[in-house]
Amino acid sequence: MTPERIPLAAVVGWPISHSKSPRIHGYWLKKYGIQGHYIPVGIRLQEFESALRSMSKLGFVGVNVTIPYKESVLAMANSVSDRAALIGAANTISFRADGGIHADNTDGIGFINNLRQEEPAWDPSAGPAVVLGAGGAARAVISSLLAEGAPKIILTNRTRARAETLQQHFGGRVEVRNWIDAPDILADAATIVNTTSLGMVGQPPLEISLAKAAFGALVTDIVYSPLKTNLLIEAEQRGLLAVDGLGMLLHQAVPGFHDWFGTKPEVDAELRAEVLAE
Ligand code: ATR
Repeated sequence: MTPERIPLAAVVGWPISHSKSPRIHGYWLKKYGIQGHYIPVGIRLQEFESALRSMSKLGFVGVNVTIPYKESVLAMANSVSDRAALIGAANTISFRADGGIHADNTDGIGFINNLRQEEPAWDPSAGPAVVLGAGGAARAVISSLLAEGAPKIILTNRTRARAETLQQHFGGRVEVRNWIDAPDILADAATIVNTTSLGMVGQPPLEISLAKAAFGALVTDIVYSPLKTNLLIEAEQRGLLAVDGLGMLLHQAVPGFHDWFGTKPEVDAELRAEVLAE
């Protein structure tokens, strides 16, 4: 029997046409034979709040929010998950039956679950992590690494003050170093993460040599366009474990889909191929 309302979900942002989320959720809806739709919705700043409130009445079970709404959506939420509160931003919104808006952040868990799929197994508690960058993405990465037991986070950012703000927020296990010293701080790291936009199509490259990185270190980039950034190419050339950023994007989508459509979806090679085929 057709349900009274076919569940709808969306990604909301401005601009929105570049978003890969409709492909990810569309793939899963088809794969699991679920009646439902996931669409991109471009909403301008002045309409964001009223649009979001209307969506729950229109049959939307939830939405992903992206730039520029990831922080501002928290103020609208009736409940906020601990991890979204800690990160200070949300990417996954669920509309409750009573009209309440629940805000969650799945970027950190997406980052971790992506690395957990690696062979040989990645152990976040094996040693310090070096985090390059101190923007929004760094907040999700740092909070999840700390939650997974990373003994220390060595944080460096071009604008040192932003790294210091994160150090104050996340506390004693985070140490701040100068950006120009970045190549030298890699020696101790079990995990090296680029959270800056450097290396992305249209941006300057990330020019930090991995010469001093320890054998066995895992190097990952949140940039996924291009899939193989210069950082990851160098990591591979040096025999380090290189993990691209697409997996984080795929894994961050899992909790939302599960909550909205009732099936926990799998991140597999076919999904990657589908998203890359664009
Ligand atoms: P996001 O939310 O995606 O992390 P963001 O908050 O704009 O985006 O952060 C971008 C990150 O890339 C920051 O760490 C930024 O460094 P600054 O805080 O010094 O701006 C970093 N970044 C961007 N362009 C850079 C460049 N040319 N050199 C070094 N770091 C850069």
